[in-house]
Amino acid sequence: MLTEKQLAPGDIERFNTAHEQWFARMPNIDHLMKKPFGNPLECVETFQQLGRLLAGLRLAPGMTVLDFGCGTCWMSEFLNKMGMHVVALDVSQTALDIGRQILAMDQRINGDLSLRLVQYDGQHIPLDDASVDRVLCFGAFHHVPNKIGVMEEIHRVMKPDSIFGLGDAGIDYDTIPQSVFERETWGVLEDNLNLEELSAIGEAAGFNAMYLTLAPEPHYWFRFDGYDRVDAQRDEMFDSARKFSRHFEVFFFVKGNPLTPTSATPDRLLAEITLEHDDLTLSSGAVHRPVSVRVANTGNSIWLADTQGEKGQVNLGIHLFSADGELINLDYFRMPLSGDVRPGEDATFDLRELPDPGPGEYLLEIDLVDEGFCWFKQWGTTARRAKLTVVESGS
Ligand SMILES: C[S@@+](CC[C@H](N)C(=O)[O-])C[C@H]1O[C@@H](n2cnc3c(N)ncnc32)[C@H](O)[C@@H]1O
Repeated sequence: MLTEKQLAPGDIERFNTAHEQWFARMPNIDHLMKKPFGNPLECVETFQQLGRLLAGLRLAPGMTVLDFGCGTCWMSEFLNKMGMHVVALDVSQTALDIGRQILAMDQRINGDLSLRLVQYDGQHIPLDDASVDRVLCFGAFHHVPNKIGVMEEIHRVMKPDSIFGLGDAGIDYDTIPQSVFERETWGVLEDNLNLEELSAIGEAAGFNAMYLTLAPEPHYWFRFDGYDRVDAQRDEMFDSARKFSRHFEVFFFVKGNPLTPTSATPDRLLAEITLEHDDLTLSSGAVHRPVSVRVANTGNSIWLADTQGEKGQVNLGIHLFSADGELINLDYFRMPLSGDVRPGEDATFDLRELPDPGPGEYLLEIDLVDEGFCWFKQWGTTARRAKLTVVESGS
């Protein structure tokens, strides 16, 4: 059984107090109020690291994200603007109080989304089991003395198919001058995170896969004359990425199977659409010879049938054109799927009723739509056309 390394009684409380003091006794909090825009060089590095972390998290609007060790909540502020419900969690009440001030100054906060600031004791995360879609931790896990217990807590609050993304200290972080200064001045924990230890902790907590990402350092520049022969620079680029990541790695801990893309996090959306026939007659809203439309999922993303009003629901969608091809109504008709459709599966819609556009001849273009993202035709699906004749009722 795995045991917490070098943990004496009272250590957790002592480190919590040290982190609280770090914020409470900071003589000038200007740099905290400006984070992450304090200075251009740091900002570039932060965005580079964040890009790797956010890309791997595969966020979708409407998800609930736990910002673990949120500090002054600037990342929670970003996540709110990206459409997430957020729980901002930290051991320091002062950090959260500063965060509250920062959030109050931001007029672009989306008040329709929940944004909770929560202080905890460094041991028990005060959230229900399986209540968050993603956990993000930026630069805080290396401060945690009881990593096994906290990793288990993180796993507990995560939903069945979810991801914990950790961007944090890498190898040897505890020996760099900045860490030594922080430890000696404030008594905070500046640990390093090594792959072997993290992998054992992640596995013990129940995660079924773990990954890390590498990226070339921001100043890795390709030479013009070598760019079309990138192979020649591959080793150099890989070395640069390893070196750059040495003190900041981006790790992912995967629970269940969240990695198959869905229409809420689409990758390749493609359909084969077939019509039973393409000559429809309508009167009083009823189609005379109902037509069945078969759609086969030929892409790699699961089509979600019901996203409770959030983006990413796949519907049948029909555009209405005049007989000579002029667009009349892009959103003429929608029909929902009766259940999710996985890659390789298909579904059928029966068109029995349509809105009445008035007597005349029309063209219908039948496609699928990933609500809030795109029409399938925009990603290469062939939408099908059908003729629509609308007759007065009784004719
Ligand atoms: C380097 S700061 C990073 C804060 C924030 N994520 C950011 O990027 O600005 C580290 C944060 O970890 C918090 N922290 C320290 N010990 C912690 C623990 N046991 N659990 C969660 N957070 C902790 C500190 O209070 C601090 O806010």
